[in-house]
Amino acid sequence: MTDRYILAIESSCDETSVAVLKNDTELLSNIIASQIESHKRFGGVVPEVASRHHVEVITTCIEDALAEAEVAASDLTAVAVTYGPGLVGALLVGMAAAKAFAWAHGLPLIPVNHMAGHLMAAREVKELTYPLMALLVSGGHTELVYVSAPGDYHIVGETRDDAVGEAYDKVGRVMGLTYPAGREIDELAHKGQDVYDFPRAMIKEDNLEFSFSGLKSAFINLHHNATQKGEELVLENLCASFQAAVMDILMAKTKKALERYPVEMLVVAGGVAANQGLRERLVEEIIDVDVVIPPLRLCGDNAGMIALAAAVEYAKGNIASLDLNAKPSLVFEGVEG
Ligand code: KG4
Ligand code: ZN
Repeated sequence: MTDRYILAIESSCDETSVAVLKNDTELLSNIIASQIESHKRFGGVVPEVASRHHVEVITTCIEDALAEAEVAASDLTAVAVTYGPGLVGALLVGMAAAKAFAWAHGLPLIPVNHMAGHLMAAREVKELTYPLMALLVSGGHTELVYVSAPGDYHIVGETRDDAVGEAYDKVGRVMGLTYPAGREIDELAHKGQDVYDFPRAMIKEDNLEFSFSGLKSAFINLHHNATQKGEELVLENLCASFQAAVMDILMAKTKKALERYPVEMLVVAGGVAANQGLRERLVEEIIDVDVVIPPLRLCGDNAGMIALAAAVEYAKGNIASLDLNAKPSLVFEGVEG
């Protein structure tokens, strides 16, 4: 059998990334060019700046990924690319590069949903068993996804307002932390106590929906009132209280999803899956199902995860034509009930 190599490209937000995957499971390279430094001073990702950075580095990233993998373009089997969800201008850069590369080398183009990428990063840890439940937590998404078979994704619950990562970044900004603040809040939380008693929205409701905007407002109000009165707030305790509220919500809804959908495996993925507090609680509280969390290097945005999801799409025969368009609001279809 000849070896199969997939070149994958990811550019949906602020990371330009290119990876090479061998025989569906082995990541030979995963080049990630982060633009974070350029966005920090704005306190968030500026779409126009993101697109420009992607244009500047995409070609080098492709060359580097092939060089590190020691794979020539002529060895490749297919090219995969994220076509949504994400920033339209940013997506288009990766897609133009992927299409041009596929066309020039006569390769099939595999379209990949960015959130499927986050989820399938778990394939690096072990072979996934189906059906499985996934908790996807990133800067733009918070969703529970039921995966009935490889590549068959159904949303069973999601946030009504802010995504978890977004809430982390917003309260981080209020505390004067640098963007993105998730990791720093996580570190500070481990040095503090849950003393501020923030609300746990919808935690008792019998559904799989999340809401984080009330928590965010409660945090901002507390901070604002204390500042006005000249009261000192303990940063570590603020972080610990915020994180405890977030984790209570995530854990409650994930357990409810596991009750409703009997599965043997839970995947937890996305940028927020890097959270140590979340990892600790999953280990302590989810005992009946196998919890699979991608390694830290595959939690944030990267093309390795896109390649791992692409292998599944390729096996399904999901090949796009070269007029594939970017879908900034691409979603998995939901299921009833
Ligand atoms: O998946 P990702 O890299 O990009 C998106 O697709 O959105 O997620 C980025 C998000 C940011 O909001 C960042 O603050 C958050 O993940 N994040 C964390 C941690 N590390 C990154 N949130 C909580 N705890 C962390 N350790
Ligand atoms: Zn992402």
